[in-house]
Amino acid sequence: MGKIAELMKKKGREKIAALTAYDYPTAKLLEEAGIDFILVGDSLGVVVLGYENPLPVTMEDMLHHTRAVARGARKTLIIGDMPANTYGTPSIALRNAKRFLDAGAEGVKIEGMKTDVVRALVEEGIPVMSHLGLTPQSIHDYRVQGKDEEEGMRILKEARALEEAGAFSIVLECVPESLGEKITKSIGIPTIGIGAGRYTDGQILVINDLLGLFDRYVPKFVRQYANLRWEIREALLKYKSDVKGRGFPGEENVFH
Ligand code: KIV
Repeated sequence: MGKIAELMKKKGREKIAALTAYDYPTAKLLEEAGIDFILVGDSLGVVVLGYENPLPVTMEDMLHHTRAVARGARKTLIIGDMPANTYGTPSIALRNAKRFLDAGAEGVKIEGMKTDVVRALVEEGIPVMSHLGLTPQSIHDYRVQGKDEEEGMRILKEARALEEAGAFSIVLECVPESLGEKITKSIGIPTIGIGAGRYTDGQILVINDLLGLFDRYVPKFVRQYANLRWEIREALLKYKSDVKGRGFPGEENVFH
């Protein structure tokens, strides 16, 4: 069975644990931990490249990092996140999605209600993960989406339409738990939540948030499993102090 089919089969059977990665060593660790799929997210722009939002991220940035991830995780399903303005029409989307596959991804993620694009890519054999709710490429006020009945219904209808168009999975970002549950029960493909509550088929987080590596803010939906910023800073201070105090290099580090 292919990796996409395997992931889809988990719906209703086993929760899906997904994470983002942007480089070789992290991808390798994710694979060793048995993470179900890796998203090379355009969150790259914010948590790695230092931009305010993902909008400046280019195809070249994404391909560079997708290649690194593919070198680190040879067995895990890798999804490449298509950056803003790279899938405006089916033909542009097709050209760019193929570049992701050449870089080592096995599917692409696109934000929003792009049924024409999803259909065109799927017809060409390119698996597509959709992304609804808070879609950072187009929504810049970071608030929970689909809180009122009408907006919630719209997102539910969009999810159904994207499934119809051939998406194999949908990321739901920052929606009320009740809406995450309703959508999950209403469609036949796996929902992957990020701030979408406990009842989606799977969860995804940005790895830098989970590891405590991002310095600017911690969204409510994140659980920090480590505080690597603190640990790295301690290591750096120790290194500096060892060098200044002539404690490094030691006898074990030198050649005779
Ligand atoms: O870019 C990204 O990391 C994402 C996830 C937050 C789902 O789209």
